[in-house]
Amino acid sequence: MSGSSSIHVPVMLREVVETLQIRSGGVWVDLGCGPGGYTAELLRRCAPDGRVIALDVDEDALALARRNLASFPPERISLVRANFTELASVLSEAGVTTVNGCVLDAGFSRDQVLGDQSRGLSFLKDEPLDMRLDRTLKTTAADLVNTLEQRELAALFRDFGQERQAGRIAAAIVRRRRQRPIRTTLELAELITATVSPRPRGNRVRHAATKAFMALRTAVNDELSALRAGIEQAVLALQPGSGRMVVVSYDSNEDGLTKRTFRDLERGCRCPASLPTCVCGRRPEVRVLTKKPVRPSREEIAANPSARSARLRAVERLPEVKTDADGAASL
Ligand SMILES: C[S@@+](CC[C@H](N)C(=O)[O-])C[C@H]1O[C@@H](n2cnc3c(N)ncnc32)[C@H](O)[C@@H]1O
Repeated sequence: MSGSSSIHVPVMLREVVETLQIRSGGVWVDLGCGPGGYTAELLRRCAPDGRVIALDVDEDALALARRNLASFPPERISLVRANFTELASVLSEAGVTTVNGCVLDAGFSRDQVLGDQSRGLSFLKDEPLDMRLDRTLKTTAADLVNTLEQRELAALFRDFGQERQAGRIAAAIVRRRRQRPIRTTLELAELITATVSPRPRGNRVRHAATKAFMALRTAVNDELSALRAGIEQAVLALQPGSGRMVVVSYDSNEDGLTKRTFRDLERGCRCPASLPTCVCGRRPEVRVLTKKPVRPSREEIAANPSARSARLRAVERLPEVKTDADGAASL
């Protein structure tokens, strides 16, 4: 989680800026711009004539970004309400064929949890159990909790939350909803707290509902498919030989998927190992710049404890490979 209702210092800003090697001119992309922290820094560093295309699914986040970025020349910013999955069409509509760098900040912002327009993402605040970042989506967390079969709920908590007590939580939900539907965040959080015990995490105790809430948020927003699609589309748009992409994520689902997607793009060929030669013809697209995820500094975590779960991974697009008439490849 990152962000605040005024322009703020976004999580791992120094690391994002250094890795992207942001310079004057060009086109830069901010995926999941939220209140616009990275967008503002991209605009400053690609001045005087560089452009930033910033996307978010949340209309309220974009309204905040618009206010926060009002001092920048409007012709240098495009703020677009779109999902990561729509990046390729957003770029094509903007007439952009290559971009110099892209940052994708997954997850949700402080405003989406604590602001006036909060979404039922927190178990610490009593709200309708909604969790949609994109208000045009049809299915809320309450819909999932009140309609999925017990085994589907258990799979959701296990697969998206790595919740060890997924079965017990699913059974408790199904028992409770036979009496009445579960409508609010606190109803669900209290039910989970009464069902499972909180687990210690280092020297802190994690709230018993943490993983179940993360799993529901991931499912409602189809976050993992969107993340993979966003990475793949951004990488294809990067300037060959120099364009870089940075992903900042906040939980193990997102970080694991980022790592696997980058590795697949680095390897290229996806043929089974049993085949003697490649038949898929995919070539490596990127070089991974971060063998291990980069974590926030101790100073940053001390100043902003909510940054502690952030992980940064990055890739650079490889130079284009030209093939001659015989199909031989050269750089
Ligand atoms: C952590 S916040 C971004 C904060 C921002 N980087 C900053 O520091 O100002 C993540 C943002 O990503 C948006 N988001 C999450 N999933 C998205 C998706 N699939 N497509 C577009 N935006 C998404 C959320 O609405 C949220 O505003």
